[in-house]
Amino acid sequence: MEHGHDPGLGVAENYLAFAEEARGRSPAYESLAASVAQDGVVLGFLGSLPPDKRQPNLLFAAARYLLGGTPDPGGLRDLASRGRDELAGVLLARRTQTNEPARCATLLPALALLPRPLALIEVGASAGLTLLFDRYSYDYAGHRITGSDPAAPVLRSEPHGPVPLPDRVPEITWRAGLDLNPLDVSDDDEMRWLSCLVWPGEGDREQRLAAAVATARRSPRSTTIWPVSPNVISPTAPPWTGSTSSSPPASADTFSPPWPSSTARRQDRSAAVSPSASMSG
Ligand SMILES: C[S@@+](CC[C@H](N)C(=O)[O-])C[C@H]1O[C@@H](n2cnc3c(N)ncnc32)[C@H](O)[C@@H]1O
Repeated sequence: MEHGHDPGLGVAENYLAFAEEARGRSPAYESLAASVAQDGVVLGFLGSLPPDKRQPNLLFAAARYLLGGTPDPGGLRDLASRGRDELAGVLLARRTQTNEPARCATLLPALALLPRPLALIEVGASAGLTLLFDRYSYDYAGHRITGSDPAAPVLRSEPHGPVPLPDRVPEITWRAGLDLNPLDVSDDDEMRWLSCLVWPGEGDREQRLAAAVATARRSPRSTTIWPVSPNVISPTAPPWTGSTSSSPPASADTFSPPWPSSTARRQDRSAAVSPSASMSG
């Protein structure tokens, strides 16, 4: 489990655990989380929220969303007291839905081994940025692969061991996502929320996200992200059932990439769920 929302721990302990996780990754979040763990005002505010709305990632993103930048401990305390209704409104309305296009670089070698063309289904797709494998370019420690959108970001990854690196991106004839709360890449406000979810101090993540959103907006065929309810994805009746234009083509094998980042092959063209976790989300 990601640090910061362990239901077996109290709120202050969760923020201390999150401060540990942020060490070396995000100095701003490390010190903010450590200060929340000792701040009666912020802890009192968090205690008034449902347990799944108390997590550090969500609180800090909401503060950045409202304040336009990462607050210092005093700024966060002020927001949690004088702006508590506004802050609670954002926390109750939003979810942590970090969409990290760089995950495509770790999955591409596996996808490229499969017969083509591909149809992709992603469970937990957020804004669908990890469905755009063929648009991005890749750099595996000097082994470069050019994607179909020359302006898309170059995703870098350092292979270890005998990774079967492809020479080109796979042909993808169909792609769809499923999510509890699909995010719309054409909606500036939803994309601003996505960028607030990126931790401050994590190198070029924010720029990569912005470039991937621009890529999605330029994409010739739009990707449908279907809304679903928790635990209600029927392998016999996926959301596109009955819609000829939205169904995967019969010529393509269907694969389910990340939730958030695992890959599973499906021969029956039905939705697949394959949960696993990697980057924080
Ligand atoms: C951390 S984001 C990962 C997004 C993307 N897969 C990636 O790797 O960049 C997890 C997404 O899964 C969605 N999600 C969580 N539980 C789900 C469920 N039971 N069914 C469908 N989507 C779910 C969330 O709404 C969120 O958008």
